[in-house]
Parts: sequence; structure tokens; C-alpha cells
Amino acid sequence: MSLPVRAIRPVQAASRMQLQRIASRVGMLIPTSRRLLASVSVSAPSAPFTTHAARFSAAAAPDASAPTQSMTLVERRDGVGIITLNRPKALNALCNALITELNAQLQALDKDESIGCIIITGSEKAFAAGADIKEMKDQTFITAYRSNMLAFWHDVTRIRKPIIAAVNGYALGGGCELAMMCDIIIAGDKARFAQPEILLGTIPGCGGTQRLTRVVGKSKAMEWCLTGEQFSAEVAEKAGLVSRVVPAAQLLDEAVKTASKIASMSKPIVTLVKDAVNASYETTLEQGILFERRLFYSTFATADQKEGMSAFVEKRKAQFKDE
Ligand code: CAA
Repeated sequence: MSLPVRAIRPVQAASRMQLQRIASRVGMLIPTSRRLLASVSVSAPSAPFTTHAARFSAAAAPDASAPTQSMTLVERRDGVGIITLNRPKALNALCNALITELNAQLQALDKDESIGCIIITGSEKAFAAGADIKEMKDQTFITAYRSNMLAFWHDVTRIRKPIIAAVNGYALGGGCELAMMCDIIIAGDKARFAQPEILLGTIPGCGGTQRLTRVVGKSKAMEWCLTGEQFSAEVAEKAGLVSRVVPAAQLLDEAVKTASKIASMSKPIVTLVKDAVNASYETTLEQGILFERRLFYSTFATADQKEGMSAFVEKRKAQFKDE
């Protein structure tokens, strides 16, 4: 059964700045005329993204049967932006074009004031089966180094709104790494995780050895990265990699419930929470606590703090205005 994706519609054309950023990443010249810019659609990245992909390998094109089909579908529901990875024939293998498109969609949702939380999901069979092996296989050290291969995946972590990875099926290699770049992972009970790069004669290249180790500890991360073995959603939950496991068929609805709860909070305060939790990965405990306390003080400059605490005292539901 496929996931219930309703009323799918493409994200509106990206801003000029977004397009320029994407263009500079893919080494493309974007025309300055507004009319020409408007003709470049982020949600249907056929020619520009194919050009970028083709530079790496002919196999880099989207599914050959549907070269102009968008590789991400976007839906908005209850203040939540849902991005569905849509490259089913390749089990959502994360080619350059797909990640470029994903980043553009994320940036558009990050700027959309009606959206308070974002979900990235895949299909019932695969969240994502990893970076695109066919696209990568002929790389040399020099081409990888010169192109700063895969570095732009990291843009996912620059999104300020919380991102939930809703994982059904395979989350392997880059798929597991993409999920770990998100802020919360909710897994369907049949999800399978792994860092199988060692079986391909390589190592994780998008944070697998780093984020997995921080989350599950050295012994488990070492075993999983050294053997490439898959592990279940249940094991992932016990190890602290996923926040909870739900029946596969209810995954998206459960993720939307959590996301819309987050979206109902004050948006600036949500961003401060995300910043504070993320800081715990980057700093010492003492510096992290100092950072948290400064952010805590800063909330007292917001109208939403006044509203939240007044509502508690007055025994009513807070009405946040994102101010
Ligand atoms: N890259 C490119 N294509 C992929 C792919 C990947 N990572 N994973 C699956 N596919 C393609 C297959 O080649 C196949 O395409 P064709 O029909 O054209 O042959 C299609 O998706 C379906 O795959 P399978 O026939 O293999 O499906 P399956 O159900 O038998 O097996 C699977 C599913 C266990 C996920 C298997 O496809 C698999 O092992 N995939 C590779 C997983 C992997 O090694 N991921 C790590 C990639 S490296 C990486 O991610 C590096 C990094 O750190 C960024």
C-alpha cells in the first residue's frame, strides 16, 4: 500500500536567490532577466539538473523512463510541509539532482510562513537506498575532491525549521545519513537501517561515522559501519536513533500529528529550541548550557513568551502570534 499523499502540488517557483545558489552549486549561469528566471521551475528540474547530473555520469539522470518527472513531491497539511522522495524505480537512491531538488524544496518551505514543521518521507519500500551508486562508481579521488562531492547534502542541516524523517522501508547509507540530518526520526515498524558502504569498498560520506557514533555510541556505530549489517526499526529505537516506531501504514499520519503539534507552537521559539538542542552536539556542556541560558533569556523579549505564560496563569490555551 502506498503512503497517503493527498493534494500533492509543487512548491512555487524558488526565489531568485535560491536559484542563484543552486546555479552556483551546479556551475550554471542563471539569466538575470526576471522573465527568464520565472521560467526555471524548482519542482520540475529537467534540463538544468540533468545537465548537472550528466557532468558526473550518464547514469546520473533521473529514472530514464521519466526524465522530466519531479523527484520530490510536496504537500502542505495543517501547517506542515511534506516532501516525498519520488524516485521509486531506484528506491529513492539519492542522486545529485534529487538532493539539489530536495534542498530547493526545503529552502522554499523554510521561507513559507504558513509552515511550522517539515517532513521528509519516501515510499513504503524505501525512504532512500543510499547515495546513487551508479552515479558515483566512476568517480576518481580528483573528480570527487574537485567537485566537493556530496558536500551540498549538508545544506539539509541549515534549514531552521524542524525536520522529521518519516522512515518506511530501507534507510541505507546516504538514506540513513539523510534521516540523521533531520531533527527527529519516526520509523515504520518494517524500516531497515544500515551504513553498508563498507560492502561497496568505501565508507559513509555524509556523516554516517560521525552522527551515528554521537547518537548510538562508539561500539554500536563501529559494529554497524564495519559490518554494513542492516538493523530493524526496533533496534534503532532501542539504540536511540529513532524517537519512536509506529505501524508502517500509519507512519505518515503519525509524523504529521507530531509535526502539526510542533507547527502550532510559536515559530521563533521552535527555532530557538532546535538551535539549543543542536548546540549540544557542537560544544562542551558548559558552553552549551551558557548558550541555552542566553537563548532562554532572549525568549523574554518575545510576545509569545508573554502570551504563553499569561495563558497558563489565566487557565486558557495560548494563542501564539510568532512574535
Ligand atoms: N544507487 C543506485 N541504484 C540503486 C541503489 C543505490 N544506492 N539502490 C537500489 N538501486 C536500484 C537498483 O540498481 C535497481 O535498479 P535496476 O532495476 O535498474 O537494476 C533498483 O534500484 C531496485 O533495486 P534492487 O533490484 O536491488 O531491489 P532489492 O529489493 O532486490 O534490494 C536493496 C533492495 C537491499 C536496498 C538493494 O537495492 C541495495 O542493496 N541497494 C544498495 C544499498 C547501498 O549500498 N546503499 C549505500 C550506497 S553508498 C552511500 O550511500 C555513500 C554515502 O555515504 C553517501
